[in-house]
Formats: sequence, structure tokens, C-alpha cells
Amino acid sequence: MASFERHYARRAAFGVYVHWPFCLSKCPYCDFNSHVRHAAIDEQRFLRAFEAEIASNAARAPGRTVTSIFFGGGTPSLMQPETVGTILDTIGKHWTVPPNVEVTLEANPTSVEATRFRGYRAAGVNRVSLGVQALDDASLKELGRMHTAQEALDAVAIARKSFERYSFDLIYARPRQTPAEWEIELKRAIGEAAEHLSLYQLTIEPETPFHALHKSGKLVIPDDDAGRALYDLTQEICANAGLPAYEVSNHARPGAECRHNLVYWRAHEYAGVGPGAHGRIDIDGRRHATMTEKKPEAWLMRVESLGHGTVTDELLTSEERADEFLLMGLRLAEGIDPARYEALSGRTLDPDRIATLKEHGFVESYGDGCLRVTPAGFPILDAVVADLAA
Ligand SMILES: C[S@@+](CC[C@H](N)C(=O)[O-])C[C@H]1O[C@@H](n2cnc3c(N)ncnc32)[C@H](O)[C@@H]1O
Ligand code: SF4
Repeated sequence: MASFERHYARRAAFGVYVHWPFCLSKCPYCDFNSHVRHAAIDEQRFLRAFEAEIASNAARAPGRTVTSIFFGGGTPSLMQPETVGTILDTIGKHWTVPPNVEVTLEANPTSVEATRFRGYRAAGVNRVSLGVQALDDASLKELGRMHTAQEALDAVAIARKSFERYSFDLIYARPRQTPAEWEIELKRAIGEAAEHLSLYQLTIEPETPFHALHKSGKLVIPDDDAGRALYDLTQEICANAGLPAYEVSNHARPGAECRHNLVYWRAHEYAGVGPGAHGRIDIDGRRHATMTEKKPEAWLMRVESLGHGTVTDELLTSEERADEFLLMGLRLAEGIDPARYEALSGRTLDPDRIATLKEHGFVESYGDGCLRVTPAGFPILDAVVADLAA
């Protein structure tokens, strides 16, 4: 890591995550905290609760300068632009928000939502992340999506005109997907992308409809070897196109990484607002891991009676904090600064384990002592991290 990047990685960053927990329909692969409601949602009531929870977070973590804000979901592009604007104003009332702050909103690429893009831009959003998922209609249907490939591409074109920065998500290693098909789709996606792409390998999450279908043999996805081949192909195509992976599933032109996601992976502080939001806040030099009530209506009632929706607030031990730093940081291509691990945990990483992992070609040192996972190590990242953290 060049010394200026190292300085950046260490420099204080503070993110604010805002969770909008509703979707128009539930995709059969998704286990995010997202809910479908057939009755109208009282957006004003939710807005008041968001305002209260921002205030309670600011009371616990005062004086911070916000470096990124992220509206995630669920489907935040179902919110009215005015609601997003008021939430941003509220964040600005409680913390310092510099003009260059990154403000991302996740959007579903339907034509209805794309009509709100200008409103979000006017409200202060400067980056949009679109859930395109696939560029062929049969796959989109199988994934339970409510948009066609053309509609998604139209939304990308509107995003390009409306925002300084945009990204979109694709899911690969889908049922029956061949490397030749994925290569064509990915190259087409790169042609539509500007600076950032999130490329997720389909995972079968417990308690989702895909899980039941997969278990019964009705949904067959590429096996480990085929998944690995698709992953390797993804890395090669993106790197050749100038969009290398800076994290396991995230690709960007150098300098165009999502700053908010870097807050998580570099183990900086962030406030979590909204149902089921996680936070990491430092109070008196000790890190608190917080989580709010997941169910939207229960969260709302909790905030209305207590002023916050927090249900878990745990002080992390130095060991837990260091493990989290390792787990998150090794997802990044830049890896970690072992000196920060030592400062957090009070112990060094085991030199014998590092030496063995280096012999196998799974990790390497570079720059002034940083440690990163190699391309050969990334496919077995969990095992590498478990070995180092043991
Ligand atoms: C909260 S969603 C994005 C915003 C929006 N709700 C949408 O779907 O367009 C985050 C992303 O996670 C990815 N994702 C969700 N479940 C997944 C799964 N089981 N396997 C792979 N990727 C998944 C999708 O690419 C999705 O766009
Ligand atoms: S993938 Fe997005 S739209 Fe689909 S259920 Fe999950 S959060 Fe909602």
C-alpha cells in the first residue's frame, strides 16, 4: 500500500447507514431485512422515527464529521425524494457534513423508480447503486425481478445523466449459466458501467424460497468448480477492462471505490439507523456494536416510545475488535496493516502461520509491511482468515 493510501486507511472516517426495509415484492434468493406491505406505508411516521434515531445516535457519538451516507434496503428508491432530503438535512443538523460527502442510494431499476432520480439528486444524493442483477429477461424472471433487461439499461442511462457516480449489481453463477454466456453478459455490463460494479456470486440463503427449491433439486446452480471458473473469469475480464476487484465482489476504477463500504471493510465507525441496522460507535475509546429491532413496525414503536430502536449494544473486547478488523480488512485487495491489528489486540499475528500461508501463495506482504490476500487466496478467503485469527 502506498503511504498516502495507508494514511487514508487509517484516517478517521464516519459513515451513516439508513435502512429502508420495504420492497414491492420479495425476490426468492434474498434474505435481506426487506418486507412487502400491501397496505400503504406511513412514510411520514417512519421519517419522524428516522429523525429521532439520528438524534439519539448523534447524542452518543457527537462531533463527528460524516464521510459517507448510504441509503440501503430493502428498496430505498421507494422513498419519496423529500423524505430522503429531510433525512439528509437531519444528519447535517447533528453532525458536520462536508460538501464532498458521498451519498449513495440503492435503487431498483424499474421505470417508475428512475423517474425519481432527479428528485434524489436535488435532495443531495450523488451516487446511485442499481440492482440490475442480470441482463437477460429469462434470468430476471427466474430471479423474481420486476423489471426487464431493457428497463434496467434505461434506468442505468438515466442514472448516468442524473448522478456524478453510479454503480450496478449483477448476480452470476445463476442456474445453467455457462462461462461463455457470462462473458458476453459481463462485457456488455462493463460497456454500460462507468467506474464501479458489484458482482455477486449467487448464494443460497437459509429460509428463502431458493433454499427450498435447491434442497428439493428443482433449482440447480453451478457446483464449486464451475462457480470457481466463473469467479476466475470475472476477475480476468474486469481487471483487463480497468475495473479490478478492490473487494471480493466489488470492482472499481482506482479511486472510484464506494467510500461507504470502505468504512466497513477498514473497520471505521458508522451509525446504523432504521430497522435491523448495525452500527459501530466508539464511546470513551471503546467500540460498541449496535443493532436495532428488525421488524419495521416493532422498530417504529420502539423508537416512538424510547427515542431509538436499539436492541443490542455490546462492548467489543479488544480481541473481538481485532478479529473483526482482520475479517473485514482481508476482504480488501489492499489488505491490512498488521500494526493496526497489534494496536487493537495487543498481540502480533502469528509469524509461523503467516509464513505457511505465504509458502502456499495465499497471502503476501507488500509496501511498508502491509499484508494482503493473493488472487490464489481469495477463493479460500474464509479459511485464510480463520487460520490467521486462530
Ligand atoms: C439490498 S439489495 C440491492 C437493492 C435493491 N433492493 C435491488 O434488489 O435492486 C443488495 C444486493 O445484494 C445482492 N444479493 C442479494 N441476495 C443475494 C444472493 N442470495 N446471492 C447473491 N447476491 C445477492 C443483489 O445483487 C442485490 O442487488
Ligand atoms: S433483492 Fe432487493 S428488491 Fe429483492 S427482496 Fe432483496 S432487497 Fe428487495
